[in-house]
Amino acid sequence: MRRIVIATRNTKKLAELRRILAAEIPGIDVLGLDDVEPFEEPPEIEATFEGNALIKARAAAAATGLPTLADDSGICVDILNGMPGVLSARWSGAPRDDERNNQLLLAQLTDLSGERRHAEFRCAVAFVQPDGEEIIEIGVMRGRILPEPRGQGGFGYDPLFIADGQAVSNAELPAGEKDRVSHRGRALRDIVPAVATALRAR
Ligand code: IMP
Repeated sequence: MRRIVIATRNTKKLAELRRILAAEIPGIDVLGLDDVEPFEEPPEIEATFEGNALIKARAAAAATGLPTLADDSGICVDILNGMPGVLSARWSGAPRDDERNNQLLLAQLTDLSGERRHAEFRCAVAFVQPDGEEIIEIGVMRGRILPEPRGQGGFGYDPLFIADGQAVSNAELPAGEKDRVSHRGRALRDIVPAVATALRAR
């Protein structure tokens, strides 16, 4: 059975993860958290992407009895000493709001030229199996924060980010091109061989 849970409620992130996995493991059956019985979801309280990805994946694997992938990701701005980092989703406070987060980040970088706007997206993907086996992979995408939002695609900070080697913002990149260069695409492709092996063995 090629069935796997992806422990996220972020529909846009789920769509990206589904798309990348389907390209790598044809026929895989990917369930989101809305497709499984509800369970108590622990808060993401770790200081690292790896730690939070493991919290999400362990809880969903234990509750569903299925192999589970979870990603924790965010944007790390060099001049902010790596912040917002693990706090990216809630950078401007509750409730989570991408537009408000983007406005706050832009305000924090007011007057800084391109040289001072270097940043990276980071993603940790955890694969946890019901028998307790755990694997983690990290993906990084370097780039810069734009002076204003550009594009309608993607999600989160995508309109503010231009990846190194690209001419347009992440929100203007075709989906397949974002997957090819993104932190999430890199981490997920690195973990795919272990996922494929585990699913074949079930
Ligand atoms: P998480 O769901 O707790 O991992 O929070 C990740 C947050 O980081 C999201 O809410 C976005 O704000 C940001 N983020 C992570 N990956 C991306 C991406 O690929 N594009 C834009 N924003 C991202």
